[in-house]
Order: sequence, then structure tokens, then C-alpha cells
Amino acid sequence: MTSAPIPASESYAPIAKFLHWSMALLIVLAFLLGLTIDAFPSTWKGAAIESHKAIGVLLIVLLIARCSWRLAHRPPEPEASSPLLAAAARLGHAGLYGLMLVVPALGLLYAIKRGQGLDLGLFSIPPLAMPAPRAETRPIREWHEWASYMLIALAVLHAVAALWHHLVRGDQTLRRMLPLR
Ligand code: HEM
Ligand code: HEM
Repeated sequence: MTSAPIPASESYAPIAKFLHWSMALLIVLAFLLGLTIDAFPSTWKGAAIESHKAIGVLLIVLLIARCSWRLAHRPPEPEASSPLLAAAARLGHAGLYGLMLVVPALGLLYAIKRGQGLDLGLFSIPPLAMPAPRAETRPIREWHEWASYMLIALAVLHAVAALWHHLVRGDQTLRRMLPLR
């Protein structure tokens, strides 16, 4: 961590913005694809699952890059607000980081336990294990699903808080995260 805090008027660094918005977009895409997989005609279902898994793996890679960057760079100081709101924001961000790890990790564990490989476009990874019985893998799939609902619910709350800062308080919180600023 660098020591001197960056003033509240400063924007997030371009790399932080890129990682924030690209990951937000990919999370929504993975979520929608996950929810609609059963609606795909059978000829497309395999491709839909593989795309879902590839987006999820890409999210894990981006999360590692994001956490490495974040540990070495401090974000701009939050806009002055009550200590309670500042603590809620910190807790919310920590929850988002945690769920951004737990959701794809459970998906990956489920796929491995089901004896599935990964098709990542440029290369593929063969199955790492024999398929485990459904009774063993079903709970992992359910945790993967419920954790993804929690991630999306927390992200919606987070977006509402950002819009509240922008529209009600009229401060710089949202503008500092917007691209091209
Ligand atoms: C942030 C990333 C992810 C989100 C938001 C997400 C979300 C979801 C959702 C909502 C479902 C539907 C749940 C169900 O019908 O039981 C699902 C299913 C699934 N996910 Fe993920 N997932 C993510 C990452 C991953 C990753 C990294 C993998 C594996 C590499 C993965 C593998 C699967 C598999 C195999 C299924 C079951 C598909 C099927 O057979 O119908 N997911 N995911
Ligand atoms: C899946 C969707 C999203 C996830 C996972 C997510 C995650 C995060 C995380 C972890 C941070 C903390 C960054 C740090 O300082 O380390 C953050 C900051 C921020 N996000 Fe999001 N975000 C999402 C969507 C959104 C949306 C839709 C908006 C706007 C409507 C938004 C606006 C912001 C703003 C303004 C900040 C800076 C907050 C501050 O300076 O205290 N985010 N986001």
C-alpha cells in the first residue's frame, strides 16, 4: 500500500476503472447466461455452458489482476460522510470482492467435480477428475447459484448507493469511477 491518501476530487486510475467496468459487465453476462442455460435449444446448450465457464474463468484472472493492483495502489479517499456510511461502504466493497471470488470458485469446483473440462477458445483443459455422484455435486451447484444471487443483490445495492451519491448528495463518488474523466 502507498502511504499518502489521494484527495477525494481525484479520479480512480484508468486501470482500476477498466477492471471495475469490464468485470461488472462480464459478471452480469455470466449471471444471465447461467440463468438462461436451460432455455437454449439442445444444439446450443453445450456452447452456452462453455461460454459461461470461459467468462467465469476470465473473471477469476481479472480478479487476481485487480487484487494485485489494488494491494499496491490506494484508491482515492472517499467523499466525507458519516463514519457509519463509510464503514458500510467498506463492508460492501469487501463483500463484493469476496463474492467475486466465491461465485466463480464454486462454479469451477462444480465443473471439475462433474468431470467437465474447460474449452477456453485458444486452448482447452481436459477433465481433471472422474464425475462425482450427483448427490455430491448438487449442493455445490446450489451454493454456486445462491452465491451468485447474493453477488447480484449486493451489486444492485452498491449501484443504488452510487446513484444516491450522484443524484441526491451531488458529490464526486460516481464521477470518479466513470470512464473518460
Ligand atoms: C461471476 C461468475 C459466475 C456467475 C455470476 C455464475 C452464475 C451462474 C448461474 C446463475 C447459474 C445457474 C444456476 C443453476 O441453474 O443451477 C450457473 C450455472 C453454472 N455455472 Fe456459473 N457462474 C459464474 C462462474 C462460473 C465458472 C467460473 C464456472 C466454471 C468454470 C461455472 C460453471 C457453471 C456450471 C457448470 C453451471 C451449470 C450449468 C448447467 O449445467 O446448467 N460458473 N452459474
Ligand atoms: C457486478 C457489478 C459491480 C461490482 C462487482 C462492483 C464492485 C466494486 C468494488 C469492489 C468497488 C471498490 C473498489 C475499491 O476501491 O477497491 C467498487 C467501487 C465503485 N463502484 Fe462498483 N461494482 C459493480 C457495479 C457498479 C455499478 C453498476 C456502479 C454505478 C452505478 C458502480 C459504481 C461504483 C463507484 C462509484 C465506485 C467507487 C466508490 C467509492 O469511491 O467509494 N459499480 N465497485
